[in-house]
Amino acid sequence: MASKTSRDVLSRGLGVLRQAIREQPRIFSVAVVGSVLFGGMIIVSARVVGSVIGDVALPAIERGEVGAGTLALAATALFGISVLRVAGIFGRRLGAGYMQYRLQASYRRRVTRRYLELPLSWHHRNSTGTLLSNANSDVEAAWYPIAPLPFAVGTLVMLVGAIVSLFATDWALALVGLAVFPALFALNVVYSRRMAPRQARAQRLRAEVSGIAHESFDGALVVKTMGREAQETARFAGRAGELRDSLIAVGRLRGIFDPLLETLPSLGTLAVLVVGAFRLRQGAISVTELVSVAFLFTVLAFPVRAIGWVLAELPRSVAGWDRVRRVLDATGEMPYGQRVLDRAGAGPATLTFDDVHYSYPPAEAHPPGAQVLGEVGFTVPAGRTVALVGPTGAGKSTIASLAVRLVDPDSGTVCLDGVDVRELTSASLAGTVALVAQVPFIFDDTVRANIALDRPGVDDEVVWAALRLAEADGFVAALPDGLDTMVGERGTSLSGGQRQRLTLARALAGRPRLLVLDDATSAVDPRVEAAILAGLRSSTSAAGVPAASILVVAYRRATIALADEVIYVEQGRVVARGTHSELLATVPGYVDLVTAYEQAEVERAQESSYGDDVAPLPSGLEIEVDR
Ligand SMILES: Nc1ncnc2c1ncn2[C@@H]1O[C@H](COP(=O)(O)OP(=O)(O)OP(=O)(O)O)[C@@H](O)[C@H]1O
Ligand SMILES: [Mg+2]
Repeated sequence: MASKTSRDVLSRGLGVLRQAIREQPRIFSVAVVGSVLFGGMIIVSARVVGSVIGDVALPAIERGEVGAGTLALAATALFGISVLRVAGIFGRRLGAGYMQYRLQASYRRRVTRRYLELPLSWHHRNSTGTLLSNANSDVEAAWYPIAPLPFAVGTLVMLVGAIVSLFATDWALALVGLAVFPALFALNVVYSRRMAPRQARAQRLRAEVSGIAHESFDGALVVKTMGREAQETARFAGRAGELRDSLIAVGRLRGIFDPLLETLPSLGTLAVLVVGAFRLRQGAISVTELVSVAFLFTVLAFPVRAIGWVLAELPRSVAGWDRVRRVLDATGEMPYGQRVLDRAGAGPATLTFDDVHYSYPPAEAHPPGAQVLGEVGFTVPAGRTVALVGPTGAGKSTIASLAVRLVDPDSGTVCLDGVDVRELTSASLAGTVALVAQVPFIFDDTVRANIALDRPGVDDEVVWAALRLAEADGFVAALPDGLDTMVGERGTSLSGGQRQRLTLARALAGRPRLLVLDDATSAVDPRVEAAILAGLRSSTSAAGVPAASILVVAYRRATIALADEVIYVEQGRVVARGTHSELLATVPGYVDLVTAYEQAEVERAQESSYGDDVAPLPSGLEIEVDR
């Protein structure tokens, strides 16, 4: 069983190597030529050293004189060999490095491109940590054996050359070689087999340790406020200790095998000297030949290790490759259609949900197959504002994702201007709809870059118009560098409400025909929120951003009251629809929800705990705006 799996790993590992060679054949050839040159020079150098000792040094010692010509010839030969060897090493190292890093870069690109192509449903099933390690350590691990590969190939060629050279010298010495070389090879195989699981364990622990570190830094706020520093440190220390132990296990194995791998060729040299002395006395070989062979054994040990390096890396490479392939071969891509919605002067778009059913794909954290949405049908008429109201977990964000086609329904249709969103091209869809998500995301870049996103036609004028509509122009103008101000990673230098308004401005800058706001202004002062929505409803092209149809997930009475229609959802079903006042009069659940939320708002406002725009909720606001 064990040998079957390791044979399996070996054959699949060789498959990965074949793939690498197929992708970078020319660079690989350069590296192998360098390596073969190096190996050839080792064999030649053994002959030359033998000849220098046997034909130059010995006669000189015996006769006490040495010809200047001979000496010069020997020196030139040794120097020439060194130069060629250096050239070989250079070619091999350069080629192997190029090949390894090129493959890494190319596969990193492929993996990250694939992430962006894969639908949200795939991302729901895979954690950020996994995505990071797929693009980083897995890609690296897959191509680790590439570094020593050309060396190992060159070494194999060299071993064959060495055996041939031994047979050409003397059959008895060749037999020593035939005993030692396979033993060296076998020792390498045993070594790499023992090493592989230990290396794999260390690799896994490394990923876990960095995962824990990532999580505790990311959740620094929770860790600190909950007083979890000691537990987090202990959790980290536990894994760090395991990593230490597993690295020590690697070191211990190395400590045993490295000296063995050094000793074996020395034993070979010893055997050569014993057998060689005997054959010398028989007159079967010369001193030159004996010295060459002995020297060959001493210089051979190191290159042979390269074969072990490749074998040792193969299991890790196969594991990394499997994980990379899992991303590259992942299905569930959402193919885009060919249709384009006419933009020019088209005005706001109409959104229609017709009998939409949706369930999230099974994931570890969720029970499989639970239906999240059923029989959802509603329309956002062109230029109208529809509010989506419902208790937490009712499916509002899921409806928002369907509306902008982050996910596709299991059955039923989502249409824009009567066209199924699955028939639209990616560009047409992106140009027509914009989602402002529940959790704002800010890039580590300037305010301008965050809003314009390099989209054609989004100049500063449009950016400012969008900021005005999002009620964000005031605070942006007050920033030290205005639009050029850098906002830190994930917008850490901004308040929650500021972040939300920047992401809203980003959506508006694309001049969408349908705007989907998923609780997008929850951290903004209620008055400002109502002002934003009122502004969006009445905006015209004159304001710089044309009016759009709006689907807004909201809780606040002041905001909901601005909508033309309210759709009330509970447990993934549309329970009621109508104007705010109609629902207040007829749907008890709706009244409870809106009132409870209002109560919480009032309490929150009294503690004046808004991140920015600290303004207490004026009592009676809801009555003012209501109806
Ligand atoms: N990625 C996911 N995988 C599986 N189930 C999910 C996923 N996201 C949400 N759900 C489930 O789908 C249901 C609807 O979630 P959704 O996020 O649409 O609710 P919501 O109405 O937006 O809630 P909230 O008001 O809290 O934002 C919930 O029961 C939730 O547990
Ligand atoms: Mg939600």
